[in-house]
Amino acid sequence: MKVAIDGPAGSGKSTVAKAIAKRCGLTLLDTGAMYRSVALTCINRGVALDDEAAVADVARSITISFEPAEPVQRVLIDGTDVTEAIRTPEVDRNVSAVAAIPAVREALVEQQRAIGNAGDVVAEGRDIGTVVFPDAEVKVFLTADPAARALRRAVQRDGGDAAVDAKATADEKEVATIMADLIRRDEADSSRKAAPLKPAEDAVHIDSSNKTVNEVVDLIVSLMEEAR
Ligand code: DC
Repeated sequence: MKVAIDGPAGSGKSTVAKAIAKRCGLTLLDTGAMYRSVALTCINRGVALDDEAAVADVARSITISFEPAEPVQRVLIDGTDVTEAIRTPEVDRNVSAVAAIPAVREALVEQQRAIGNAGDVVAEGRDIGTVVFPDAEVKVFLTADPAARALRRAVQRDGGDAAVDAKATADEKEVATIMADLIRRDEADSSRKAAPLKPAEDAVHIDSSNKTVNEVVDLIVSLMEEAR
């Protein structure tokens, strides 16, 4: 079975996909981590992000892998653990430019399909239901209002999880800065030519603003049962 979860940054995709993978025994495919890995490698190697051919070479030359772990699965580039290094504000700022390059997407989609075709997966990203796995049995488009998304990201940066802890708070200024960045990134991801962020025609829309993780997970698990 393939479960596709698409949506903007901070909509709760990662938390929800992780919970489904655990509950249903599926492989978790975090495609955003792959775009982040390409951005990080370019930054580390001094590759200019507007040099599309050079960035695509990076995407084709690195091997990105995932290792199950708690509390989060580890992300490795050529065997080196980059789980934390791909989540810095610098990578946040630069990843949309990398994700807009068609040749980068081509290289990563190929790797994503290889992982997906090896077994049952829950994949999260922006183009899973539309491009990567258009044949996915379950497609979800997960959204949340920008304030809820920014708060979740801020709490996540402080090591917490607002999707789990309803009372979680964060510095107001930090939330405002993150919200501005999220809105800018949504705009870039939705308006780009190559595989823009948009729901598949047959996706089920879920707004997670006022839902707990468990409520969203229960909803998706019932969609999976219907699809069997
Ligand atoms: O989900 P995230 O914030 O880790 O994603 C990082 C960036 O990668 C974001 O700008 C959107 C882009 N992305 C994409 O274009 N396609 C995907 N399937 C996943 C992420």
